[in-house]
Amino acid sequence: MPVRGFHRMQDLNAPSLSLPPAQSREFAALRRHADDAHQWHLKELFAQDPQRATRFSLEAAGLFLDFSKTHLQPQTLSLLTDFARALGVETLRDAMFRGERINLTEGRAALHTVLRLPQGSRFDWEGEELVAEVQQVLERMETFAERVRSGEWKGYSGKSITDIVNIGIGGSDLGPAMSCAALRPFATTSLSFHFLSNVDGHATSAVLGWLDPETTLFIVSSKSFSTHETLLNAHDARSWFLRKGQPADLHQHFVAVSTNTEAVTAFGIAAENMFPFREWVGGRYSIWSSIGLSLMVAIGASHFRAFLAGAHAMDQHFRTAPLDRNMPALLALSGFWYRQFFGAGSQLIAPYHQDLWLFPSYLQQLEMESNGKGVTRDGQPVGLRTAPVIWGSVGTNGQHAYFQMLHQGTDIVPVDFIAVLKPAHDYVQQHKVLLANCFAQAEALMNGNAGPNLPPHRACPGNHPSHMLLMERLTPATLGALVALYEHKTFVQGALWNINSFDQWGVELGKTLATRILSELDGSPAAHAHDSSTSALIARAADALR
Ligand code: F6P
Repeated sequence: MPVRGFHRMQDLNAPSLSLPPAQSREFAALRRHADDAHQWHLKELFAQDPQRATRFSLEAAGLFLDFSKTHLQPQTLSLLTDFARALGVETLRDAMFRGERINLTEGRAALHTVLRLPQGSRFDWEGEELVAEVQQVLERMETFAERVRSGEWKGYSGKSITDIVNIGIGGSDLGPAMSCAALRPFATTSLSFHFLSNVDGHATSAVLGWLDPETTLFIVSSKSFSTHETLLNAHDARSWFLRKGQPADLHQHFVAVSTNTEAVTAFGIAAENMFPFREWVGGRYSIWSSIGLSLMVAIGASHFRAFLAGAHAMDQHFRTAPLDRNMPALLALSGFWYRQFFGAGSQLIAPYHQDLWLFPSYLQQLEMESNGKGVTRDGQPVGLRTAPVIWGSVGTNGQHAYFQMLHQGTDIVPVDFIAVLKPAHDYVQQHKVLLANCFAQAEALMNGNAGPNLPPHRACPGNHPSHMLLMERLTPATLGALVALYEHKTFVQGALWNINSFDQWGVELGKTLATRILSELDGSPAAHAHDSSTSALIARAADALR
């Protein structure tokens, strides 16, 4: 049944009369409720309800979420889920899983969930069955990964490979880099992994300066195979290799992951050394595809399949659980609540696990590139605050840097604490200290310490919200579930703002201008007038580089 005022899947392609989400009746009800919520202190909510921690927590796909330390009450949840339903969040979710082309501006489906369907299942989409193709690519990846891991894949001089360099940027870097770091205890120790993303010779020389071309294998990862940074790094890597090796040896040292066979072949990588994926996999959702090749080489095929299975378990939960018991939806609704009604401009991700050190950066791309937009699917201003700044770093390091601001600053910064109960090491006491710190921070942020005899500079008002995500161990399966959890959270928030989470047009403008400025740094006259600041900066750099 169509819902008044909202843009639904069935009319996505029709001229829309939809209202922006902010003008809905459901949003107005939420706003009124939020006025009351501003009067609540979290510690009072706990005092009123001894069952609060149980009531506001749930488990799914090997993850436990406690969201009790938030200003969410049963009525809040019911108003938030009414709003979500009015916006057709569940309808849009089902459309995504079915493979409808919900990425309207690029005319694409968002079918990363198909990449993690179990072997032997089927997925029929627009006249094709997709699982067989996905499994075929996985099998090719497995054969390759096994050959490299076992030492059977040789470099041109007959030595086995010792170093893998993934060249890629954005999703073609952060996915493999984050997951290789997170699953370090599962990785082979006979290979070292390096990630070259930035277009900066300092980064290139820092990586290549230590490597031996005879034993180095490059995985050039780019969905489009047209990304300037990646191609420049790949060309420089090739030149570096050719200082010792011969052009005929390149095929033993360069493989590619891409959707663009033509560009890969033009670069000089043979089709048999290319691992494809399809355009229905978005860059920031691509770790499950052949973009995960370096991860598979690191952890092996069976662990990679467990990573996919963990994500699939979260998919199943997301598509079947009611919104008020649905982990991705709850994270999304809670984040939305703080963003709209408490003015939270940022969201801190605090993993209390060293191996998750890249997870905040991974989520930065996932959430900010997906939902950092200001217009609805039908081109109207959203009229609400969209994606907050996602930031963070590991555990206790943050406590000795920026946590001061969380406790006594003037902004509300919701925190996602992420902790692992059982460590992958023998330093048990360190792990206890780590967990104690994690739980203590969440408690301190909530309760504060305000009291009548405390001087103002020592008072911590508390009332700061956080989520606590726990898992028994950090394994390929739980990491898969964790990443899928945030993918779906991002999706739900995009749906709440009624924006297209799957395009990224804002990135294009800077790319176009950089191309123009580069030609000026190369000595061409300016084809377009710049402002006086930009002109002066270009002139200064051109002088320095002359
Ligand atoms: O930043 C824009 C973007 O398109 C990302 O979405 C993507 O992950 C990244 O660039 C890299 O793109 P590609 O894999 O095509 O090189």
